[in-house]
Amino acid sequence: MLAAIERIGRDRRTGGYRRFAWNDADMELREWFAGEAAARGMACEEDGNGNQVAWLGAGASGGEGASGGEGADALLLGSHLDSVPDGGAYDGPLGVVSSFAALDQLRRDGFVPSRPIAVACFADEEGARFGVACAGSRLAAGTLAPEKALALTDVDGCTLAEVMRARGRDPRRVGRSAWLDRVGAFVELHVEQGRALVHSGDAVGVATAIWPHGRWRLDFSGRADHAGTTPMEDRRDPMPAYAATVVAATARAVDAQARATFGRVVVEPGGANAVPSRVSGWLDARAPDDGALARLIDTVLVDARAAAAQARVGLGVTVESASPAVGFDTALRERLAAVLAAPSLPTGAGHDAGVLSRVVPTAMLFVRNPTGVSHSPDEHADDADCAAGVDALATVVRELA
Ligand code: GLV
Ligand code: MN
Ligand code: MN
Repeated sequence: MLAAIERIGRDRRTGGYRRFAWNDADMELREWFAGEAAARGMACEEDGNGNQVAWLGAGASGGEGASGGEGADALLLGSHLDSVPDGGAYDGPLGVVSSFAALDQLRRDGFVPSRPIAVACFADEEGARFGVACAGSRLAAGTLAPEKALALTDVDGCTLAEVMRARGRDPRRVGRSAWLDRVGAFVELHVEQGRALVHSGDAVGVATAIWPHGRWRLDFSGRADHAGTTPMEDRRDPMPAYAATVVAATARAVDAQARATFGRVVVEPGGANAVPSRVSGWLDARAPDDGALARLIDTVLVDARAAAAQARVGLGVTVESASPAVGFDTALRERLAAVLAAPSLPTGAGHDAGVLSRVVPTAMLFVRNPTGVSHSPDEHADDADCAAGVDALATVVRELA
């Protein structure tokens, strides 16, 4: 299955994936997912937010809202198929294909589940296009307001509402998803994005928690001017203020044993021989607990304001997304760790599982990543470990269903 989608959205130059919400690659992947569901006789629905859910057997509702009154007894598996800019082949897709593969294995073994099972492909997990991570699962769970989501814009200034309409979707259907009321537990398998399993010598682990994290946009605004004729002391240049902020945030994160990343920056007007009028930088910050993250952000913003004042430029701060710490359901994760004899580990990466954990008992399985590299074309997992992940997920389904 990974081979079948290998070429979709892959950039020839970098080898990385550009699978962004509602772009051509995303649309092709949606068709692929629906095809895999159909090939297994699973009824595939797409909710108003673009999340696809394939139901096995008794769980099929045939459409959003048609819950049939079965109650919250379904076991949900799945992950996402979108990527960060130049993402790897496993972050997201491994969880989707492993879910189908685990169900195939169980079917071959003649296993008959005692509860409905569904496989989800969540929309826009990475937030690469519209800035808000896990937009699909947040909307489904009711933790992101539809009007806020629909007004988000991409780099071309197109709103999510416009983009969905152009893809034949009705923005009025965006909002809480009825199908989620039928889910009693969610298990997301994911490639590990660190090396804890390399160190412990295990192919598969169980997640304990997700670090709190968020994205802050810092807009430094100054005055455009000539690079040759404007004396340094006359400038109102936002770039040195931005640069000083990056250096300061890096030092603050090291001190706090936290993470601060500026992975995206936009410079306007972007001329090599002009003082910029504006520099916008996106701070992705994460820390072991909510208090540590709040302190990190406070100190970084103090540094940023001081740098802006010194450069005589303005500073605007916008919180684009914020996710508090997640502790996965203790009983569920301990049960899975026991049945799999697998180690437990926390992660600094965000996931749809973190969002759903607020409304339904949720757990995650991680599959060993030999280098720990992720959000990069170099992301990798060995075939044998991926197979061990499928076996583990099948064991989890037997245990829970
Ligand atoms: C998602 O992968 C994130 O942690 O940003
Ligand atoms: Mn990711
Ligand atoms: Mn992911």
